[in-house]
Amino acid sequence: MSQREQWSSKIGFILAAAGSAIGLGAIWKFPYIAGENGGGAFFLIFILFTLILGLPLLLAEFSIGRTAGSNAVDSYRKIAPGTKWHWVGVLGMVTSFILLSFYSVIGGWIVVYLFKAVTGQLNGLSSDQYAEVFGATISNPGISVFVQLLFILMTIIVVAKGIEKGIELASKIMMPALFILFILLVIRAVTLDGAAEGVTFLLQPDFSKVTSQTILEAMGQSFFTLSVGVSVMVTYSSYLPKTQSLPRSAISIVAMNIFIVLLAGLAIFPAVFAFDLEPGAGPVLLFNVLPTVFSQLPFGMLFFIAFLVLFLFAALTSAFSMLEIIVSVISKGDPGKRTKWSWIIGLAIFVCGIPSALSFGVLGDITLFGKTIFDLADFTVSNVLLPIGSLLIALFVPLKMKKTALYDELKQGSGLKRGLFETWFFLIRFVAPVLILFVMLDVLGVF
Ligand code: PHE
Repeated sequence: MSQREQWSSKIGFILAAAGSAIGLGAIWKFPYIAGENGGGAFFLIFILFTLILGLPLLLAEFSIGRTAGSNAVDSYRKIAPGTKWHWVGVLGMVTSFILLSFYSVIGGWIVVYLFKAVTGQLNGLSSDQYAEVFGATISNPGISVFVQLLFILMTIIVVAKGIEKGIELASKIMMPALFILFILLVIRAVTLDGAAEGVTFLLQPDFSKVTSQTILEAMGQSFFTLSVGVSVMVTYSSYLPKTQSLPRSAISIVAMNIFIVLLAGLAIFPAVFAFDLEPGAGPVLLFNVLPTVFSQLPFGMLFFIAFLVLFLFAALTSAFSMLEIIVSVISKGDPGKRTKWSWIIGLAIFVCGIPSALSFGVLGDITLFGKTIFDLADFTVSNVLLPIGSLLIALFVPLKMKKTALYDELKQGSGLKRGLFETWFFLIRFVAPVLILFVMLDVLGVF
């Protein structure tokens, strides 16, 4: 068997892992979920979960991956041979499958907006008209499924070619560019007339709106944006040389993520209030609001196009990680099989995702538990499967890995202080399982 590939550089791994983390979760999902859950309080709870659960779990996945140096399923097998723990990896594959099936719907929306912007179809519209055009586009069955397919095809092509060398390179430019554009956007948004109300909405917590459902969604959102609970980060860190600091990588990914979430919130909500739009508009929120903000900038359409390109790229780097984890298990690192399986699995995901795409149009009336097919797929992944996956990972680490070996693993390349290590271990061993279980049972009304 050929030697396992490794990341070509230290920054390569961080970019790929950050690429998986930063995507639709921070940019598209956070604003609309926060909008539906009253803003500030949700934001605060989300940050807390990210720090006390998300960050420790990210580090847990990193240590599993680098200790075992294998794919999402075999890593658990190597560390705990002869047990059923590898089912955690299988669960991650199933979660990724469902995740990409609806993620690609939103990816497709970016593609179609990009097409419309480039061909001048969005020039000179009012904010109501943007929403109208967008609504009509995504409810069109042919268009929404076609663009979803385009997004999946882009994902398949990159994953089929192996560890994403070119992508590493591209991220070095694209990610910083995305940050810069976002900052520009925030400056424009917060200086709009009537923007203050939006800033208050995001930054001033109003706990009267918090329910057990809000808390569950904030927890799910923190797992979603960091890509934890799916063993994607186990897979990515398995390619990592021992010389690199895992804690430092995890912290920089979390910091970037929180920063992007904040920027996305500060770009969207001031504009929502300034233009008298609806913060609880749901999945279409970002797509309805952003073109209006861009139209208030000089050369707005050009900036909007640049933004969409970078946004698409951010979504794709997350999508790669979802397909990658499945393909790397099934093809067992054999490059000959990688291409074939990338296509088979990618297309299967596309087919399973069609109902989600259609749920913004012809299948919009089909609901279960009051949710459309798309919402149900999203809810199942974010608020059921990711928490369960995370819970299992939090149990796996202290139960199946030796504490001294873990310390050695985390210390490599970082000189991690014992006290910090103990804090992390405590969070993983006690806080994470108890808190995740509590939040999930609370929503079921057990307490
Ligand atoms: N973190 C990604 C995002 O925010 C989504 C993701 C979740 C990717 C889980 C991989 C695994 O868009």
